[in-house]
Amino acid sequence: MNPEILGRLHNLLGDQGLRTDPLSCQTYGRDWTKTYEPAPSAIALPTSTAQVQAIIQLANQNGFKLVPSGGRTGLSGGAVAAQGELVVSLARMNKILAFHAQDRSLVCEAGVITAQLQQFAETKGLFYPVDFASAGSSQIGGNIATNAGGIKVIRYGLTRQQVLGLEIVTGKGELLKLNHGLVKNATGYDLRHLFIGSEGTLGIITQATLQLLRAPENLTVLVLGVPEFAALMQILQRFQANLDLTAFEFFSDRALHYVVQDKGLAKPFVTPAPYYALLEFENDSAQREQAALQAFQDCIEQGFVLDGVMSQSQTQAKNLWRLREMISETIAVYTPYKNDLSVRVSLVAEFLKAVDQIVTERYAAFEVIWYGHIGDGNLHLNILKPATMDKAEFFEHCAAVNEQVFVLTQSLQGSISAEHGVGLLKRDYLAYSRSAEEIAYMRALKTLFDPHWVLNPNKLLSIDTSSL
Ligand code: MLT
Ligand code: ZN
Repeated sequence: MNPEILGRLHNLLGDQGLRTDPLSCQTYGRDWTKTYEPAPSAIALPTSTAQVQAIIQLANQNGFKLVPSGGRTGLSGGAVAAQGELVVSLARMNKILAFHAQDRSLVCEAGVITAQLQQFAETKGLFYPVDFASAGSSQIGGNIATNAGGIKVIRYGLTRQQVLGLEIVTGKGELLKLNHGLVKNATGYDLRHLFIGSEGTLGIITQATLQLLRAPENLTVLVLGVPEFAALMQILQRFQANLDLTAFEFFSDRALHYVVQDKGLAKPFVTPAPYYALLEFENDSAQREQAALQAFQDCIEQGFVLDGVMSQSQTQAKNLWRLREMISETIAVYTPYKNDLSVRVSLVAEFLKAVDQIVTERYAAFEVIWYGHIGDGNLHLNILKPATMDKAEFFEHCAAVNEQVFVLTQSLQGSISAEHGVGLLKRDYLAYSRSAEEIAYMRALKTLFDPHWVLNPNKLLSIDTSSL
């Protein structure tokens, strides 16, 4: 970046607010995808919305590009800066600004860590329901920009459901304050929802108003051994007939094997099973517990379940959750090729069967790890790199199977990215889930809010220089 612009950024942000050292560039230039080499020109760490606005205006005037950056726990390269961009990290905008007890809402800056938000809600006797394994480092701005999902979607929905208001600086450098924390607001287009899930391509989120909820009581976890894919959705249906589940996850025995081996955790029970389902419900009355036990009994009798365990304490519940939540971190060292697919819940059984067929044919030489938020129709299919195979060769081989998997997903009107976003990794596959007309509208919206395409260039949509 030219020294004059660096000087202007330095004047704006001060010593603490601008970094160019190699370690910062390495750290802030990548997310958890790790497949792209980071190469940002510098890192800006603003402390106010006014500074964010000034940075975006400077980028527009001088033609440099920006990558908005949260906790960088994404898995699609959405926060990667590999082309000399200026990273704009919201890490120093990390304050909870207000709590409104009657509204059961809070206002916070975008850089607040998800787990801090959850803990704050707890201190108020309330609950922030969006949760996932990376909650300890992901930031709320990133969660909103990617419409983060996680493990409680089946009951509470995605991040979108919790966002009552947003403060945004658009790619043009304009400040927008959207929806003002209102529950009801029927005054036309709800622009708030356009920014949720836009992956930092339309504007930078600087503040959010979030809905908090009643804290659930005595969350109880069941881990069940399942003989085959087809039984999974039968189990879901049987339990949902009696209970509002707060989670319905699944993982394969191989996934469990790695977690048990590498993290030193205990298996849930000794009976072998190829797959496991993890269910969670609010065990707030004797009837509720009875309903869960009855559903379990019915599933055993029908052959949908081989064995199972139900948590008897909060500690045991947490430990059972670790079996599922530690999978991603555990297999990360085996350089997985990650798929994040979804179909309608009613099509999951058919989808799993068809994916299994592709996997058996095309990934015969590789180890395949299955897990996912299957109660939401979301499958995480991870292929592990053989230790002896070169990384580039492995990814090339896996990518060659994409078309078959994505055509299948498309044929069921599913999504090629259920919750990890598009970023760089899925950008060129967008047409498997979005029509040409939709993509054309998306490009038009991008140009409307960010006419010079300064924000997160080439993420989600490729830059079409002829249109700039
Ligand atoms: C998960 O469900 O564990 C996360 O989405 C991360 C992953 O898929 O690896
Ligand atoms: Zn997930």
